[in-house]
Amino acid sequence: MKALEGVKILDFTHVQSGPTCTQLLAWLGADCIKVERPGTGDATRGQLRDIPDVDSLYFTMLNHNKRAITLNTKSESGKEVLERLVKTCDVLVENFAPGALDRMGFSWERIQELNPRMIMASVKGFGPGPYEDCKVYENVAQCTGGSASTTGFFDGPPLVTAAQIGDSGTGLHLALGIVAALFQREQTGRGQKVLAAMQDSVLNLCRVKLRDHQRIQRGPLNEYSLAGKGVDLGDTTPRAGNDSGGGQPGWILKCKGWEHDANAYVYFITQAAVWGNICDLVGKPDWKTAPGYASPPERLDKISDIFDAIEEWTKTKTKFEVMELCNPLNIPCGPVLSMKELADEPALRETGTVVEVDHPERGKYLTVGCPIKMSDSEVEVLRSPLLGEHTDEILKDVLGYADEEIASLRASKAI
Ligand code: COA
Repeated sequence: MKALEGVKILDFTHVQSGPTCTQLLAWLGADCIKVERPGTGDATRGQLRDIPDVDSLYFTMLNHNKRAITLNTKSESGKEVLERLVKTCDVLVENFAPGALDRMGFSWERIQELNPRMIMASVKGFGPGPYEDCKVYENVAQCTGGSASTTGFFDGPPLVTAAQIGDSGTGLHLALGIVAALFQREQTGRGQKVLAAMQDSVLNLCRVKLRDHQRIQRGPLNEYSLAGKGVDLGDTTPRAGNDSGGGQPGWILKCKGWEHDANAYVYFITQAAVWGNICDLVGKPDWKTAPGYASPPERLDKISDIFDAIEEWTKTKTKFEVMELCNPLNIPCGPVLSMKELADEPALRETGTVVEVDHPERGKYLTVGCPIKMSDSEVEVLRSPLLGEHTDEILKDVLGYADEEIASLRASKAI
């Protein structure tokens, strides 16, 4: 038995944000029925292809454990099938451009008429307001949600981050909203509308940066290393390079081999609780008692110099040696791991965080498994469906269509 067994999802999602959400629900046991346009399907099937005419890794890695049906939801008979799916399913998830579902004839009012228990969950770029009608992609959300203005170096331009906080981050928020709505429906018997806007989700993930915007109104952000050097950081949260910006200063330091290995770096945190251990380890035992070094507030104006000195030590060790030497001393640090290193890491394979999946057209490929581990709801990562792979099966088994009706839908190009 899986946590969401028995829950039927009408998965009307595409690209990344929506599919992230429904993939997670499918991993937790929901029956996820992905509806796609006949012929083309989700645009990502054909984007960033590495093998001609084969579903891209972009698609396969975001659509595991789903069943797929093709349906032209703009044709009359296609709309009828969609209506039956709405009546049958528990949750409809979509991330079309604003208004697309209404234009298709499936407004929230109509969906409620068809199925009052339906939970309708949407990703949109923005919530209600001046930009609510805009289409949005990942990096737009990173810019409008506060991430880009606070990422990068102080004297450089804003930067987007590799973590897909706009798309996958919003998908995760939406999944939580859906599960909560399913829980509430147990009490009320009613469905509800769930919205996760990408701007809101990114801002939620940048919560600590809004914290710092307010702190800077009352004085310098001394935990940022440049403030320690007397630089005026302006009147809002600045880009702060690799500063942790939190209560425990941190920075990325070079390790042995950095001259030729782009990832020979370690993130090193000078946690106050283990300051003595750090001083001994990096050969600066006098820092333990020296005036200006002994307590965290005294060190704030020297953060950069302290990290420069620690780096002289880390440069003599590989990033893994730094980790091995710091861990027994409780010094928090982490090697900068490349995708190659993560792909090859046996421990991640063992926990199912990195999984090899076999696909009938592309063969074996690596993917990221479910990052949530539950003791009573185990996840088996199953390959993504081919376009329309389960159309007949869903029409028959889920909606009760007869073979002749399916043939007629096919003849009219509705499926
Ligand atoms: N049958 C028939 N038509 C279908 C269909 C189907 N099975 N599935 C989708 N369509 C139609 C839609 O109804 C829409 O038609 P309309 O424009 O005439 O109303 C059309 O396909 C295109 O949908 P749209 O969502 O506008 O796609 P797009 O490629 O133009 O835009 C996004 C892509 C991602 C920018 C946009 O969907 C969006 O802003 N989504 C919300 C935010 C989001 O999730 N962004 C992140 C994506 S990772």
